[in-house]
Amino acid sequence: MLTIKNLEAGYGKVHVLHGISLEVPKGKVVTLIGSNGAGKTTTMRAISGMISPTAGEITLNGERIDGMESFSIAKRGLAHSPEGRRVFATMTVTDNLTLGAFPRLTGSRPKGDVAGDLGRAMDLFPRLKERRNQLAGTLSGGEQQMLAMARAVMLNPEVVLLDEPSMGLAPILVEEVFKIIANLKSQGVTMLLVEQFAAAALNVADYGYVLENGRISVHGEASRLKNDPAVKAAYLGGGH
Ligand SMILES: Nc1ncnc2c1ncn2[C@@H]1O[C@H](COP(=O)(O)OP(=O)(O)OP(=O)(O)O)[C@@H](O)[C@H]1O
Ligand SMILES: [Mg+2]
Repeated sequence: MLTIKNLEAGYGKVHVLHGISLEVPKGKVVTLIGSNGAGKTTTMRAISGMISPTAGEITLNGERIDGMESFSIAKRGLAHSPEGRRVFATMTVTDNLTLGAFPRLTGSRPKGDVAGDLGRAMDLFPRLKERRNQLAGTLSGGEQQMLAMARAVMLNPEVVLLDEPSMGLAPILVEEVFKIIANLKSQGVTMLLVEQFAAAALNVADYGYVLENGRISVHGEASRLKNDPAVKAAYLGGGH
């Protein structure tokens, strides 16, 4: 369970998040919806320790993680699949996935069955399986996006942050990504999802929050938000 209370964060003098509160209960998929520049990526960066919050509290399974280093947060089971395909270009697909399990291999997270999970990740992402010995930097953009997602799952995380996993993908691959998210959900993986396809995100999610200019304006059950006239007009119209 991930809990955020009155979180404030930004970049230097630029304040982006003005006190946001949200919860991602264990086993649930929660989506964060908002226009470009609303602060969705900033929220995820603050949670995973890529930037330091300036106020508020973030707890993972009851333990405060705000202010910790990214690596310490990852060790506690928080995986972040960041916006924009961050993979290790000069390493193979398999090595990228293995690195995702790094805290398990060094004993800072329960080891479990790393080899078995690698096989399961490959089964979940057949495109990666076919290309397992290819250097990640030579994958197509969409394939790199999938690798970033698969690598996050290799942590065997308590919570996964998925920032625009479908960004830049062809429609058929977008569908595949949402199927994979649904599949992970059915396995009980807890996720915080940011997606440009807000309607599809609300279909797979249990609960949603709308972020407007760094503040949560509306939140509720995903099924309710899908039918909320204001949410529909602003985020679920043509092009979303
Ligand atoms: N490194 C940075 N330095 C300064 N300002 C930044 C930085 N990164 C983001 N911002 C600003 O913070 C605000 C929120 O950006 P953020 O990336 O969180 O938005 P977002 O909701 O993820 O948008 P999008 O849907 O376009 O990905 C924007 O005004 C952006 O210009
Ligand atoms: Mg973003």
